Amino acid sequence: MSKVVVMDHPLIQHKITKIRDKRTGAKEFRELVNEIAMLMTYEATRDLQLEEIEIETPVAKTKAMILTGKKLGIVPILRAGLGMVDGILELIPVAKVGHIGLYRDPETLLPVEYYCKLPNDISEREILLVDPMLATGGSAVAAINFLKEKGAKKIRFLCLIASKKGVETLSAACPDVDIYAGVVDEVLNDHAYILPGLGDAGDRLFGTK
Ligand code: URA
Repeated sequence: MSKVVVMDHPLIQHKITKIRDKRTGAKEFRELVNEIAMLMTYEATRDLQLEEIEIETPVAKTKAMILTGKKLGIVPILRAGLGMVDGILELIPVAKVGHIGLYRDPETLLPVEYYCKLPNDISEREILLVDPMLATGGSAVAAINFLKEKGAKKIRFLCLIASKKGVETLSAACPDVDIYAGVVDEVLNDHAYILPGLGDAGDRLFGTK
């Protein structure tokens, strides 16, 4: 089964409360989403590989740790995933960014792919797949299967708000993918929106309706 990490850090919880609040406008919402994504990245990259190298400080030679192992790739699921990218890039500026476009068919509620552009060395990168909302899990599973078809081997999924059903579905379909969620909400409504959730993450990020 997937490792599921729910962020209990007070800063993350505070900022999630702010984005849930319907009075929070698009500018502040965008800033908060990026800040939460950055804080989550800190936790989601805790097990990255390090190696020891020799360096010289201005006053002495020393051994010090440096990141080694696979490079990282960030893949937002369009469009709401875009809101998390800059925050992650703040911490990992050398990561390459791919994009997957999926929309949910309003009748069937199933994900349909309409865009895909990925780094060509995706099989050599550890991928952070990001979408603020893990609702039914359908889009996340479709995106992961798609990334695997394109060669991705190691994928972590980051979301701000997950539903219990989304976590169960993703974990059952992709047990090799660890899930990092800011918070897990209880239920989905009839339109597959998370309750209490925060509404439509894409609309709130981009000021659309
Ligand atoms: N996508 C959203 O933006 N919000 C939800 O609650 C579920 C899916």
